[in-house]
Amino acid sequence: MSVRIIHPVSLSIIHEEHEHLSAVIQSMLYFVRAIESGGKTPELRMFRAMLYYITEYPERVHHPKEDQYLFAKIKERTHQLDAELDALSDQHRHGELLVHRLQDALLRFEFGGPAAFPHFRDLVEQYAHFYYAHMRSEEERIMPVAKQILNDQDWKEVDAAFLENRKMLDEAGERYRYDELFSLIAAITPATMGMADPV
Ligand SMILES: [Fe+2]
Ligand SMILES: [Fe+2]
Repeated sequence: MSVRIIHPVSLSIIHEEHEHLSAVIQSMLYFVRAIESGGKTPELRMFRAMLYYITEYPERVHHPKEDQYLFAKIKERTHQLDAELDALSDQHRHGELLVHRLQDALLRFEFGGPAAFPHFRDLVEQYAHFYYAHMRSEEERIMPVAKQILNDQDWKEVDAAFLENRKMLDEAGERYRYDELFSLIAAITPATMGMADPV
């Protein structure tokens, strides 16, 4: 067993993506809480931007990297985390379903009026709890064990896969597009960045 002192770049990328997701979820909560308190209602278009970000970024970019490279490599080295990794992969799939439900609830609120708001708000709160717990589990349970059990060659492979993925996104201009969308979302919220759990 080798213990790495250096923080692998793949874990830095996951952490950075968690911070962005965390900020977007905070914006979602801010949005529904502003409506609930009768304050100035943010444009619904902004909530669609948040859902679009979540559909595009975590679903297409973040989760596949975790499943295919990091979780797979951990499973090659130990079965100690199998149950937790399987649960996290199930949550990746379940998260997609929750986002579709949120999209549907937003449409009902937009076109069905205030009576549809409580269901929409409940789904946002539920999604926030769900996703914060998911990220906490990856950061607090999986990453520390991964740092202990993966060797230098393992990290080299996982880091290379993450960097290749990032290069592809850069070349396609997608990361720039995600960053722009993220800035737009962050601008509407007096957000505090990071993993602070506001729920
Ligand atoms: Fe995940
Ligand atoms: Fe994650």
